[in-house]
Order: sequence, then structure tokens, then C-alpha cells
Amino acid sequence: MSKEREGSSLGIKTVVVPAAGMGTRFLPATKTVPKELLPVVDTPGIELIAEEAASVGATRLAVITAPKKQEVMRHFDEFPELVETLSARGKDEQVAKVVRASQLIHPVSIEQKKPLGLGQAVGLAEGVLDEDEDFFAVMLPDDIVLPATAMEKMANVRAECGGSVLCAFEVPREQTYNYGVFDVEDSENPDVKKVVGMVEKPDPEDAPSNLVATGRYLLDRKIFDALRRIKPGKGGELQLTDAIELLIQEGEPVHVVVHEGKRHDLGNPGGYIPANVDFGLRDPKYGPALYQSIKKILSEYEAEQGIQQ
Ligand code: UTP
Repeated sequence: MSKEREGSSLGIKTVVVPAAGMGTRFLPATKTVPKELLPVVDTPGIELIAEEAASVGATRLAVITAPKKQEVMRHFDEFPELVETLSARGKDEQVAKVVRASQLIHPVSIEQKKPLGLGQAVGLAEGVLDEDEDFFAVMLPDDIVLPATAMEKMANVRAECGGSVLCAFEVPREQTYNYGVFDVEDSENPDVKKVVGMVEKPDPEDAPSNLVATGRYLLDRKIFDALRRIKPGKGGELQLTDAIELLIQEGEPVHVVVHEGKRHDLGNPGGYIPANVDFGLRDPKYGPALYQSIKKILSEYEAEQGIQQ
């Protein structure tokens, strides 16, 4: 085992969670409720991410928050009065739900004064890393990647190849215009590709592949220096993609792990609703009744729309 992988088994100590965006695709809900607190069934996205971070052995959750989004951090408080009241009423299951977030991982918050881009948000985390942390993870809280083994595979590639490792998903070519698309070369392992470039939201005919970026990154510490050297792009925002592209140009190793599995985008209602259906159907308490309700809703909808089975 290399030195880096001592400590937690994968060597990941800090997971950076950028949560300072405006959530404009989820208005009006996000006028007052941070997107990261919207629940999937009953659990906010930020807690799902804390759980994923803890599951890869990370001990620190560095949450980038906006001045008006402090409620996101409050989710990790202990709520002693609530626990006491619930305990006195014998509601042990609910007590477990209240205390869970506070026990998963050590959260720290870093304020991003203005939403000046994902790159700027990630750059702010430099100050919380220990000196010996040569790399760290980034998990976007509005992206659910299932199964959560993606990061484990990425850490193994980092241990083998060094540099930065990202997570890629295959999408139909005509959908590539929605994503950051990787230009890749094959490696010996069919699930791992060397990244030679990245294009943000290309026209499908210009897309260098159908492998697109998801919200999971394992970044070498050199990313901070790259972030200081890139210029702001559209809307004055510093793009993380541009800093990764700079590292690639300078010959730093960047690989992607092609993830086989599911992904849910919680950042807009079109992705959030299916995520709730997917998790809800698998929930032992709500699943069976939800399945019946969905079947009924679907058959009513099909009758209304004249959809033949
Ligand atoms: P998104 O673009 O998906 O989130 O950024 P957003 O800006 O909140 O959403 P829309 O587009 O307005 O609907 C990806 C992640 O990066 C964070 C967001 O909070 C989200 O988790 N982010 C984005 C920051 O932390 N700071 C920024 O300046 C921009």
C-alpha cells in the first residue's frame, strides 16, 4: 500500500462539498430553502453526501456555503431538546434520524461570499486541508451516483496513476450538449481512460466522446495553483473544468473512471422527482404503497392522454 493510502483505507481525508450556488433551476423553493436541504424521501441531499463521504473513509466534510445558506450547516447540529422530547416519548427511530448527521463526519464550513463559480468554490477549500493532504475529493450535493463505489474505484486509479481522477458516465451522443464532455484515450483497463481534453457543453457533432462529467472528483492539490492561474469565464465565474484542462495541458495525469450505474441530478425538478420515486420505491416503509399509487397515477395519465399499452 502506498503511503498516501495509509490512514483511511482509500487515503481520502477531506471531501469538499460546494453548496453555495443559487439553485435557480429550483425556484421558487430555493428562495428560502437551500437546494441541499431538499429531501430525497426524508433525507436532505447534504446528509446523503455526508454519508457517502463517510463511507469512503473521509473524516472532514468541507462545505462551501453562501452567506444566506447557513441552514445547510445547522443540519449537522445535535438538536438536544428535540432528542430529549423524542426520547421521552419512546420515539427511538426518530431519535436515530435526528442524531445521524451529527455523527457521520466532522463538518466545517467555508463561506463563498458570491457565487463566482464552482472553480472559485473549490479553491476556497485549500485552507482547510492538512499539509500532508496531496489530494482530496469533491462531491456535488445535487448529484447522486449509485452505487457509491465510484469514489473507491477513483482512489484506486489515483494510487496507480497519480494525478487527478474524475468520474464519467456514458450518455447518448445527442445529450452531450448538456454536459462537460471528455476527450479520452484508452488505457489497459476498459473502465479507465486517460483524459486528453475536456469540452464544455459541445454541439453533439463536435463532442469528442459520449463520456460526460458527473459530480465526483478526486483532485490533486495542484488544482489550487491551476485555479489561481485561470481566467474567469462566462458571468465572471471561475470554472473547475478550465483548471483541470490547464493541468492536462501541462502534462499532469488526469483519468476518468467510467461508472457503471445510476445517476440522479437533484438540481432541477426533472431529476429530483425521479430520484424520489427511485428511492421511495425502495424504501421499506413507503415503497409498497408508493408502487400502487404510481401505478394508479400512470394508468389515469395514460387514459387521459390516450396512451396505448
Ligand atoms: P450548479 O450550477 O449545479 O448549482 O453548480 P447552482 O448554481 O446552485 O444551480 P442553478 O444552475 O442556479 O440551478 C454545481 C454545484 O456547485 C455549487 C452549487 O451549490 C452546486 O452544488 N456552486 C456553484 C458553488 O458552491 N458556488 C458557485 O459559485 C457555483
